[in-house]
Amino acid sequence: MKNTFGSSVAVTIFGESHGNMIGAVLDGLAPGIDVDENFIASQMELRKSVGSLSTARREADEVKIVSGVFNGKTTGTPITLIIENKDTRSKDYGELAYKARPGHADYTAQMKYHGFQDFRGGGHFSGRITAGLVAAGAVAINALRKKGIYIGTHIFSCAGVFDRDFINLKDDINTLNSLDFAVLDENAKNEMMQKIEQAKRNGDSVGGRLETAVIGLPSGVGEPWFDTIESVLAHILFSVPAVKGVEFGDGFEIAEKYGSTANDEYYSENGSVCTKTNHNGGILGGITNGMPVLFRTAVKPTPSIYKEQNTVDLNTMQETTLQIKGRHDPAIVHRARVVIDSVTALVLCDQLALRYGTDWLAE
Ligand SMILES: Cc1cc2nc3c(=O)[nH]c(=O)nc-3n(C[C@H](O)[C@H](O)[C@H](O)COP(=O)(O)O)c2cc1C
Repeated sequence: MKNTFGSSVAVTIFGESHGNMIGAVLDGLAPGIDVDENFIASQMELRKSVGSLSTARREADEVKIVSGVFNGKTTGTPITLIIENKDTRSKDYGELAYKARPGHADYTAQMKYHGFQDFRGGGHFSGRITAGLVAAGAVAINALRKKGIYIGTHIFSCAGVFDRDFINLKDDINTLNSLDFAVLDENAKNEMMQKIEQAKRNGDSVGGRLETAVIGLPSGVGEPWFDTIESVLAHILFSVPAVKGVEFGDGFEIAEKYGSTANDEYYSENGSVCTKTNHNGGILGGITNGMPVLFRTAVKPTPSIYKEQNTVDLNTMQETTLQIKGRHDPAIVHRARVVIDSVTALVLCDQLALRYGTDWLAE
């Protein structure tokens, strides 16, 4: 039942959508790492709901650091980050105590927590809980950047519209980190936004795929067999609500190729071994090979839609219908990208600490 992930650097999340506060505890990070509160705030901005493409719930998302940081640096003790919930409207959720939303976790939470769960706003299963991950992830992202490791995610596709491919990873990552709607091609961005607006007008929702690149990771990172880079990344990526698929490198398409096209041939450059292509996404045998780590995450359409849907009244076990009232995102994918960057950074800090020792990140 625990809510902690990581071995050497571990993150614990807590809170419910309509409780007093939510947050995260980041434990095991080396002492002496810079903690930039302005950077944390700017990462929180990227997750916030803005304009008409996101939920009408508006949260200030101010992060308070209540432990583990002194004079702008980590102390090496648990970093506790809290965020108040201010814009709650619990009355919209009364019916959801017994009418499970299709596609959401209401029914499964009821089965696991026997009715003791706080169902308001999706409770502990709300996308809101990812705010704590973004706050903790900002600390991790900053630590990685100091070591020359950069992460960037774009909306690869949304509602059938595709962004352009990555071209120059360094430049693209730089661009993406300043965009609040992370699409590299301007036309694709406008088209995706229109599709989201259209779905919203129809009382519906759309999904999308995110593509992430990590550059600057040394080769040789990853633990054998059960804690491979792929397994630990997939583990945390699948923990993000609404994520239903993860693929590395060419992903599922690699299965359709010949070995001669799937293999990444080696060459040598300035004393380093590089590959000419990167179909394997920078990971072989679960261990980084020094090439960019590439993966995609499939994010489903928001389950809470405004069209009438069939469900079951869990009190009477009678079939009934449900008309959702609360405030919801017509798409999750654009808000999820900073969550993906954040959880990626948390996993990589853990793996790097396992490989080089806890103090490496601060050196
Ligand atoms: C950033 C973010 C925002 C989300 N916003 C909503 C929302 O407004 N309404 C909703 O029904 N689900 C939302 N979700 C998704 C649900 O939390 C998720 O679908 C649900 O917990 C069921 O989990 P599963 O889809 O992983 O099976 C959001 C997820 C994320 C990551």
